[in-house]
Amino acid sequence: MRVAHTTAEIRRQLKPLRGRKTIAFVPTMGCLHEGHLSLIRKAKNLADIVVVSIYVNPLQFGPNEDLDSYPRTFDEDARLCAAEGVDLIFHPTSLYPKSGPKITLKATKLSDCLCGASRPGHFDGVVTVVNILFNIVQPDIAIFGEKDWQQLAIIGRMISDLQMPIEVVGCPTLRETDGLAMSSRNRHLSDEERTAAICLSQSLIAMQKLALNGESDVDSLKRAAMTILTDAGISPLYLDVRSARSLKAKRKLNTSQPARVFIAAKLGDTRLIDNMPLQLA
Ligand code: PAJ
Repeated sequence: MRVAHTTAEIRRQLKPLRGRKTIAFVPTMGCLHEGHLSLIRKAKNLADIVVVSIYVNPLQFGPNEDLDSYPRTFDEDARLCAAEGVDLIFHPTSLYPKSGPKITLKATKLSDCLCGASRPGHFDGVVTVVNILFNIVQPDIAIFGEKDWQQLAIIGRMISDLQMPIEVVGCPTLRETDGLAMSSRNRHLSDEERTAAICLSQSLIAMQKLALNGESDVDSLKRAAMTILTDAGISPLYLDVRSARSLKAKRKLNTSQPARVFIAAKLGDTRLIDNMPLQLA
């Protein structure tokens, strides 16, 4: 496994492979856990060469967010990548000029709800950096997690709108044994917050069960989830049922259009998100 710290370095390493080998790319912000590793394993199954980027992207953090405290664990990340058979890590110190980029991308429509509404500018920062990373790595396949469903939808749309020659592949959310979605931020939870955090997935599972029993009214479904959350002292930033593809809000579930429930909540200083499909019987 090789580690490149600059754009020139990774371009040099990828140049002899282009056209001869397929390249799968897994962009990350590091502090890798099993969720990230499942993306890497998928990448290994789909392509000859696997490139992982590790870059905590300042552009996607708001002024009062956790950019400075975001966990940085490069040595351990590199060890995990090597054990998974990653070919190349791209670990740039910065991807922008010191004064910041003057040309950026904007994620419109799909980003005006959910995390886009509660984190203004977040997805503009994501699409800008992912576009830069795509330009550097020029992968055939890019792998993203369903844990960040809205991000996956926006990247898919960026690829089609901007006609990028890249296939995007989504991977299911990996969870701890008690159901909490794995996240690099989980390590910031206190014992008490970690216990309460289980209620996020539990409230979504309760909605799934009710839907499977025939409840199609979104308000009724949300009320059931809110009971679980309130009992655990959690007041979510959002709890929304939306069309899985268009992310348009839904008032009723139906059998023709796939729907998902999305949740975000702050436990202490830690922001957690989760989402699950909702299906009528
Ligand atoms: P990061 O949060 O490090 O996540 C990197 C990738 O891992 C994303 O595609 C994310 O959806 C996926 N992932 C995270 N937790 C997961 C889990 N529990 N199960 C499955 N996949 C999971 O997402 C980002 O970084 C950044 O926004 C990035 C795309 C790198 C741009 O900066």
